[in-house]
Amino acid sequence: MAKSRSHFVCQSCGAVSSRWQGRCDACGEWNTLVEEIMDSGVGAGPKAAKANGRPANLVPLSGETESAARVVTGMAELDRVTGGGFVKGSALLVGGDPGIGKSTLLLQSAAALANKGKRVVYVSGEEAVAQVRLRAQRLGLGEAGVLLAAETNVEIILATLENGPPPDLVIIDSIQTLWTDRVDSAPGTVTQVRTSAQALTRLAKKSGAAVVLVGHVTKDGQIAGPRVVEHMVDAVLYFEGDSSHTFRILRGVKNRYGATDEIGVFAMTERGLEQVANPSALFLDQRDKDAAGSAVFAGMEGTRPLLIEIQALVAPSPLGTPRRAVVGWDSSRLSMVLAVLETRCGVRIGANDIYLNVAGGLKINEPAADLAVAAALISSLTGAALPADAVYFGEISLAGGVRPVVHAGLRLREAQKLGFGSVVTGKLGNADRNNGLDVTEYAQLSDMVSRIAAQGKRAIPEPEPESW
Ligand code: TYD
Ligand code: MG
Repeated sequence: MAKSRSHFVCQSCGAVSSRWQGRCDACGEWNTLVEEIMDSGVGAGPKAAKANGRPANLVPLSGETESAARVVTGMAELDRVTGGGFVKGSALLVGGDPGIGKSTLLLQSAAALANKGKRVVYVSGEEAVAQVRLRAQRLGLGEAGVLLAAETNVEIILATLENGPPPDLVIIDSIQTLWTDRVDSAPGTVTQVRTSAQALTRLAKKSGAAVVLVGHVTKDGQIAGPRVVEHMVDAVLYFEGDSSHTFRILRGVKNRYGATDEIGVFAMTERGLEQVANPSALFLDQRDKDAAGSAVFAGMEGTRPLLIEIQALVAPSPLGTPRRAVVGWDSSRLSMVLAVLETRCGVRIGANDIYLNVAGGLKINEPAADLAVAAALISSLTGAALPADAVYFGEISLAGGVRPVVHAGLRLREAQKLGFGSVVTGKLGNADRNNGLDVTEYAQLSDMVSRIAAQGKRAIPEPEPESW
């Protein structure tokens, strides 16, 4: 018998090494390398193809093709993120923390499609059929014609799906529970996850079904094992949220058939996930309008404008090294805004404890939030509540200028739609200026700072005289 070659795969990041070592060179984790026999594993596919010797067809790029056929669920928030429905013959990965609502979301979309007469198969590797049924009944979906299977062996799943008419949608919940006879490793290891995902993506291409794989994210935010799965599938969506809040965000991070920066917003209720068509209203729902330190940021998520409350608390610090606590924003970005306030606007703020919170548990990563953050900070520092009907957006430069940002028109329209009366921002284009809102444009951050401070209960502390 030929000696089968082996290599070692890190179970944390998927890196391959030719010899065993205690610590993975790629990700630095200890004791994560597991031996994998190559001939029986992933390498077998291409080798077999080579043995056939069949050449591939070369075709011109300019050929005619139909646009991708899609199965539209009718759940607008989900269809928006997939780019208009699940693409037939494609594989999609839905990742997220355990307990965030992935199974609920997919069961609801499965029922929606089954109710439209599509053939939908839901394979649960985590829950027994009775558990899935119970959940469906609780969600009021007990009558939907979804076909269920509780199975974890890939070969059996493939045989089941090939038996009978081809399904339109197959949901595999979850990829970490699958195992295949083709490799020796234990279920849940990178090798098993990768080989199983490969078999299922092949099934998608072959059968024309849309295959949805559910993947749990580990503590470091990667889908366990599945960096490897991410590049294999056609689209990757993340389901995010904060377990202490009801809303959940479905975010596209890769999509071969559509834009990636779209989000869908849902709220987890006792009747399952409900779509939130107007997220700005949800995020501003509990706003304390008269409190100092609160500013409304007119943000963008993909092509979608979103109004979000930013709260700041600036408090005198008893500590030598003051505290900085940021939730929902980048803390180095906060340091930058603080440094600009201090050096360019003459505001002595750095010696205080500073807490910054994006309300509702949302995460913002747009630099356009700078101006809203600065406004909230100055408002808290001086005790001046900002006008309740104002929204803020603009990027702050290191020189203390306020830079214009993209999609100003969309942000302004959203503010108007939600009943806001004024906007504070950098320079706007002429087209954006006449919008019925009261517009205040600042070229310099210091101008906004002195305007807010003029309304304040406390004067802005002057910087200490320079001693160097
Ligand atoms: P689930 O879909 O099982 O999460 P995942 O598949 O991502 O692990 O959702 C689990 C959580 O959702 C659970 O903590 C309870 C909550 N939930 C509701 O609040 N309402 C509901 O109707 C359902 C079905 C679940
Ligand atoms: Mg689940």
